[in-house]
Amino acid sequence: MQTDYSFGDSSRAALRLALLARVFEAPSRAFLEEAAPPGRDLALDLGCGPGFTTRLVADVLGCRRTVGLDSSEAYIALAKRGGGTGLAFAVHDVTRVPLPAGPADLVYARLLVSHLADPAGAIQAWSGALRQGGRLLLDEVEWIRSEGDTFGRYLGLLEGLLGARGQCLTIGPRLDGAAADAAGRVVSSAVRIHEVDSRDAATLFSLNLAELRQNREVETHLAAAALDDLAAELDGLRRVDGPEITWGLRQLALEV
Ligand SMILES: C[S@@+](CC[C@H](N)C(=O)[O-])C[C@H]1O[C@@H](n2cnc3c(N)ncnc32)[C@H](O)[C@@H]1O
Repeated sequence: MQTDYSFGDSSRAALRLALLARVFEAPSRAFLEEAAPPGRDLALDLGCGPGFTTRLVADVLGCRRTVGLDSSEAYIALAKRGGGTGLAFAVHDVTRVPLPAGPADLVYARLLVSHLADPAGAIQAWSGALRQGGRLLLDEVEWIRSEGDTFGRYLGLLEGLLGARGQCLTIGPRLDGAAADAAGRVVSSAVRIHEVDSRDAATLFSLNLAELRQNREVETHLAAAALDDLAAELDGLRRVDGPEITWGLRQLALEV
């Protein structure tokens, strides 16, 4: 299924999501524990990738059914391989409603809205998939801060690439406004600060840069030689104690 997702679904991209799952498990788990709805029948994980977030949602909430949806057939095949009681996965472009399962007690989306051109439209559509008292939980990047020049150049490139597609890596500051138009009320919205080991950040960025370079469009943002330098520097930072890097994660809960 064709969507405007920039980071690919190759085995290298799946490896990056496995590392992402480990790096961001703690802040996402804390958010799910704090903002979970009372109902425990059905949870949906939108843009579930290979299923790491779906399994986290199932572990924290223990709903009767937890369903992961993603536009990537490759990721859904990987997610299905893991099995699991009460878990199901389906290929679906989540900007298209109705979603294939619902109404849900929980709709969760992590690091997905930054890849959508119409965040307000998506949030409005997803709130329609909730049952009364159900909650939409959004877990997105508010900011990423580092003194490191290499990390800064990589993040600048990424913002430029996503921006050219009408998308935004640091979508967090826009989520409150986008949620204001949806049915329901925002019950919590806060930034959780999460420091990441620089080696992990370098590995995430390295894997992603290699993926992004599959598309020549990246060279309209940075020349090939500068991309080679960036890739070599990121690779070097995978093995040393590098500059500090911290994520601010906007975690918003909307209840209908
Ligand atoms: C950055 S990954 C996050 C995966 C997972 N939520 C996590 O945090 O580990 C974004 C995921 O959203 C999926 N995606 C992007 N646009 C989508 C759409 N319109 N419908 C369904 N999935 C989409 C991608 O295929 C990818 O798996």
